[in-house]
Amino acid sequence: MSKTIRRSVLIGTGSALPPRAVSNAQLAETVDTSDEWIVERTGIRNRHIAAAGETTATLATQAARAALAAAGLEGKDIGLIVLATATPDQTFPASATIVQDAIGANGGIAFDVAAVCSGFLYAMGVADSMLRTGMAERALVIGSETFSRILDWEDRTTCVLFGDGAGAVVLEAREVAEDGPGVLATKLHADGAHNQLLFVDGGPSTTGTVGKLRMKGQEVFRHAVTNLASVLASTLKEAGYTPADVDWVVPHQANRRILDATARKLGLAPEKVIVTVDSHANTSAASVPLALDVAVRDGRIVPGQLIVLEAMGGGFTWGATVLRT
Ligand code: UT7
Repeated sequence: MSKTIRRSVLIGTGSALPPRAVSNAQLAETVDTSDEWIVERTGIRNRHIAAAGETTATLATQAARAALAAAGLEGKDIGLIVLATATPDQTFPASATIVQDAIGANGGIAFDVAAVCSGFLYAMGVADSMLRTGMAERALVIGSETFSRILDWEDRTTCVLFGDGAGAVVLEAREVAEDGPGVLATKLHADGAHNQLLFVDGGPSTTGTVGKLRMKGQEVFRHAVTNLASVLASTLKEAGYTPADVDWVVPHQANRRILDATARKLGLAPEKVIVTVDSHANTSAASVPLALDVAVRDGRIVPGQLIVLEAMGGGFTWGATVLRT
């Protein structure tokens, strides 16, 4: 009999965007910027902005319901919810517990993970470990953000870059063949020496306020390409593959130029990179699962493919996951 292995298998994806779309031209009416500058420097054309009453938890719940429907499951089937966010509804309780109650998964494990734009990768790493060690059988892993609430809308160097949204996946622990589906390798990193390059200037234990996002964009850009190329290569190697084996890269959507430069550095064909930054902008922890859901629903990602997820963000934090669908 061939050997089997317990793996976390992706069995459903979902996403949610606030209905209100804001174009670059609309932003240029209130901020000293232009569609031309934003498109040339970032590739962003549009972002979605949450309305009053739309929150990180409501978007997360919508994405979670879509992922559950895609998996043919209900809330009661979920034993673990890991929600990645830097913009929770409240300081506590964890927004994951709000989602848990909304979908009827009460009684299982639910908590938030804070790793900013790399949050979904960190959440996947934690959920995968917990599923493989038997702490739960099925997990919802969610990235959800309302960055519009922590932007300085008078700072053109940051406010044009971000948007709101949520993405979710359902993972199920299964005994599979070694060449079968599931998460194959994950690598996560952080380097706190770069805390001051991308941060929020407030918090419950310091200012007692929520604060606003601050970023030294050029320096973040430089580190992003180096760190992402390195973690992509090392995670693929750990899984036993090379960039040539990859069917799709689903990257964090911060800047089109970062996606292109990272792909070039690894010798990856640009047409293998899923790009949604043009229509969603940077949705932090939501961007990877949002892009994943787009590519699953439009039929590009199908069963049996080798997929790489990657992200880099404040901290700095960065990471990658290699999985077979
Ligand atoms: O998700 C976490 C990870 N985050 C990232 O990966 C973001 C990484 N960084 C970036 O994507 C880019 O650095 C930015 C898009 C933020 C900026 O692009 P850049 O090519 O590095 O531009 P820059 O900061 O060097 O600014 C160039 C010029 C400046 O004017 P001067 O000093 O040359 O006269 C800025 O003041 O562009 C100006 N500028 C703008 N002009 C019009 C900055 N923001 C804007 C704007 N509209 N929104």
